[in-house]
Amino acid sequence: MEKIKSIAVTGKGGTGKTVVSTLLIRLLAERFPGRVLAIDADSAMSLCYTTGLKVDKTVSKLRDELLGMRQARDQLSNGPTKDLMRTILAHGDGFDLLTMGRPEEPGCFCACNELLRFGIDSLAGDYDYVVVDGEAGPEQLNRRVMKSVDCLLVMADMSARSLQTAAGILEVAKPGENSNIDVKMAGLVLNRVRNDQPKEELLKRVGLEVFGELPEDAEVNKYDRDNRSLFELPMDSACPQAVRTILKKLIPEF
Ligand SMILES: Nc1ncnc2c1ncn2[C@@H]1O[C@H](COP(=O)(O)OP(=O)(O)O)[C@@H](O)[C@H]1O
Ligand SMILES: [Mg+2]
Repeated sequence: MEKIKSIAVTGKGGTGKTVVSTLLIRLLAERFPGRVLAIDADSAMSLCYTTGLKVDKTVSKLRDELLGMRQARDQLSNGPTKDLMRTILAHGDGFDLLTMGRPEEPGCFCACNELLRFGIDSLAGDYDYVVVDGEAGPEQLNRRVMKSVDCLLVMADMSARSLQTAAGILEVAKPGENSNIDVKMAGLVLNRVRNDQPKEELLKRVGLEVFGELPEDAEVNKYDRDNRSLFELPMDSACPQAVRTILKKLIPEF
């Protein structure tokens, strides 16, 4: 298996992308401190809450600033865009967080977006692991954040609709199918699995292979309601353990 460096989490809204991304970030940052870049690519911006970090700068704000200032734009074209990206990072325990903010509006100065993307790519080059908490749906698989992703985790809960969305994403993500982004491997992660809901039949119907699964955990949901960082969740509880199992499969040295 090729070495996994970037992991992107996608799937229908509410299926647990942010929960899984946060636990991936926390586990990787514990194991490889300082070598992890987290990217919040969802315009709803959730990672700042689940990681407990204060975020006031985003890539979209940076874009607005650059578009409004001719001088800054020239500076961007000439100077290293990576350094500019560094100025908007939030710093956590063992990881850094880049927040995308709003997507660009149609007609936005295109070269600027290209440069910002280049900046993100070269910033990512300074880390060993990159975790992207993505937007919902196959449209996420564009080049807004990165040109390639080593491992795409597609989230689904036990609903037929989220599985259909997941199947659509996995279809688009097939190697060679998508000219916008290069995905090396992709798999389904089931969330909120309860023993009283037999899943085999549902899965057989959509014909997808499962990559990992997380149980329903009332504690996780309570943290969300109380707006508490998932960095305070006991690591021996069920969801972190389930994410650890996924990481062990993906990263041999984990
Ligand atoms: N395994 C789980 N057990 C209990 N609640 C969960 C679990 N996974 C996610 N949730 C809850 O479901 C909601 C949606 O999760 P979230 O990660 O924000 O989804 P997404 O980022 O895909 O929109 C949140 O309130 C979260 O606390
Ligand atoms: Mg989310």
